[in-house]
Amino acid sequence: MSFVDQVVIVTGAARGIGAEYAHAFAQEGARVLVADVSDGEDTAAKARSLGVDAAWVRTDVRLRSEADAMVAAALQRWGRVDVLVNNAARYAGLYRGPLESIPPQEWDDVMAVNVRGVWNTTAAVLPSMRAAGSGAIVNIASTTALKGTAHNLHYVASKGAVLAATRAIAREVGPHGIRVNCVTPGLVDNEASREGQEDTFDIRAADRARERSLARDMHPVDVVGAVLFLASEAGAFISGQQLTVDGGGIFV
Ligand SMILES: NC(=O)c1ccc[n+]([C@@H]2O[C@H](COP(=O)([O-])OP(=O)(O)OC[C@H]3O[C@@H](n4cnc5c(N)ncnc54)[C@H](O)[C@@H]3O)[C@@H](O)[C@H]2O)c1
Repeated sequence: MSFVDQVVIVTGAARGIGAEYAHAFAQEGARVLVADVSDGEDTAAKARSLGVDAAWVRTDVRLRSEADAMVAAALQRWGRVDVLVNNAARYAGLYRGPLESIPPQEWDDVMAVNVRGVWNTTAAVLPSMRAAGSGAIVNIASTTALKGTAHNLHYVASKGAVLAATRAIAREVGPHGIRVNCVTPGLVDNEASREGQEDTFDIRAADRARERSLARDMHPVDVVGAVLFLASEAGAFISGQQLTVDGGGIFV
């Protein structure tokens, strides 16, 4: 799964699981653009310390203009985009509870980042991928969408939309040699999962661990292999698929 000389954009890579993806692509020789609304300079610097070129471009994926600027920055610096990982999302600290009480503004913002964001960045990257006749897009969904997890409707619905969009985009862009797949992680033990859930996270995580075939906690690094595989030549004839990474917790 070599990415030597390839150009990879990872959205939401300033921290969390996205930062792990950026690091792993850099380890495999990719030039990496960290696209995040938050400061992603640390992630970019860590990638550069591995001997590849990397940069952070401040990007709010809710806005098409910023998605376009993200792609323009990659093209200006490296002349191509081979891989787009749509990882940016509103997840940390979201409201959890009865659906009647979801703050409407939060509902709209979750959809704007998690769904419209995927649309914006995908639309932005398509012209250059179409011109190249190749490209790989990996979207990040969540097992919550497969399980229908209660009390988190806006997030769950947004990730269901990411799954459906993966299939529809795969069919639309396949004729241009572009592949689109989706990785569906289970509950990861990280800062974002704990935010606002400090009292209950350990209990939830222990429950999830018990449900898994591989009965342990899940960590950001556990998701990396699936993303690199789907982005790589090894996945050259795979498109429109979703790959669940949750230690064998649910089977679909
Ligand atoms: N942590 C988990 O348990 C888990 C499980 C399944 C799926 N996921 C998904 O994995 C991805 C990463 O999650 P994480 O745990 O690392 O969360 P995180 O909150 O640590 O990372 C999300 C990143 O997205 C960025 N972001 C938010 N809004 C943005 C915007 N408008 N434009 C650009 N960037 C924006 C944030 O700044 C942050 O760096 C998300 O898509 C999440 O839904 C996470």
